[in-house]
Amino acid sequence: MGIRIRNIGSYVPEKILTNDDLSKFLDTNDEWIYTRTGIRQRHIAAPEEQVSDMGCSAAKKVLEEAGVSPSELGAILLSSTSPECLFPASACLVQEKLGAKNAFSFDIQAACSGMVFSLENARCILKGNPSMRYILVVASEKMSAIVDWENRDTCVLFGDGAAAVLLENDFQETPDALFPAHLGVDGAYFESLLLPGGGSRLPLTTALLDERQQFLHMDGKLIFKLAVAGMTEYSNIALERAGLSPEKIDWFVPHQANVRIVDATAERLAIPSEQVFRNVENYGNTCAATIGIALADMRARDLLKPGQLLLLAAVGAGLSKGAMLVRW
Ligand code: ACO
Repeated sequence: MGIRIRNIGSYVPEKILTNDDLSKFLDTNDEWIYTRTGIRQRHIAAPEEQVSDMGCSAAKKVLEEAGVSPSELGAILLSSTSPECLFPASACLVQEKLGAKNAFSFDIQAACSGMVFSLENARCILKGNPSMRYILVVASEKMSAIVDWENRDTCVLFGDGAAAVLLENDFQETPDALFPAHLGVDGAYFESLLLPGGGSRLPLTTALLDERQQFLHMDGKLIFKLAVAGMTEYSNIALERAGLSPEKIDWFVPHQANVRIVDATAERLAIPSEQVFRNVENYGNTCAATIGIALADMRARDLLKPGQLLLLAAVGAGLSKGAMLVRW
């Protein structure tokens, strides 16, 4: 059997919020945000537009283009930092809205590493179920609902959007497009980036709402350092395990949190700047969805050619870390 990427696509909400728009209600400005993050704008979901809706929009596009019916899916894996509810999994809503009646589905909570974690889990599920043909990997985020719009330290960094990747077992003796990923976590940094309130630890109360514990909290400087170190280390391990050196990489497609994190990581890996994909300028950090949106943008711009080797890498809350090589 050979696992291949059959199709990829993305969806972002219509509404755009620019840095200049933010400066109308926050003590911030385009110059501060752009020089520190590389972000110019982000997309914001409509109040009624949910994580499953955005995920379904990306998924429908991907399935329709591939000519694959939702009923042919064996599984749907959805990664989200901003799921619709604590439980059940938002993946169940995607399953229902798509009409994927033969698919089991579940959420993967690995924050910004969600796409890499999901691709690896989907790869393992396909390997363990030789009769399963298709798995849909979806990443969808409504970060605008969980950031504190009164906190300029965090809200300027994030955006909403979704991506979907259709994986196929082609039942032929072709090499897998997905190499085994290197995944890990370091729970010692649990408190460095989290949404403290609303779970079983701190159920919502009026006092908790007054303290704004229902929103994302982050130690930005620490996360910056951990992201660069983690993506570099995990990329090097993924390359070593595949017996490859960074020169073999055609494209580095890292998690798009901040262009300074992306560039510092690429520099440490000695990957030339022109082989590094960046699109954070247009979307902000869409957490689990950034790598999928990046791949969809690259394909739309005709940057991806058959046989090219891609290195995906991400670090996120948890602290979750992952890197995976993909043969396009
Ligand atoms: N506009 C204007 N000023 C601001 C803003 C803003 N939006 N936000 C913070 N400031 C102020 C602070 O209040 C502080 O002021 P002070 O010095 O008077 O106290 C000052 O700017 C801090 O400035 P810098 O030290 O230059 O900030 P820094 O270089 O650390 O950049 C940033 C901050 C962009 C958050 C950086 O730390 C970062 O990118 N961290 C990574 C965070 C991240 O990407 N998280 C995403 C989720 S995790 C992931 O995806 C890997």
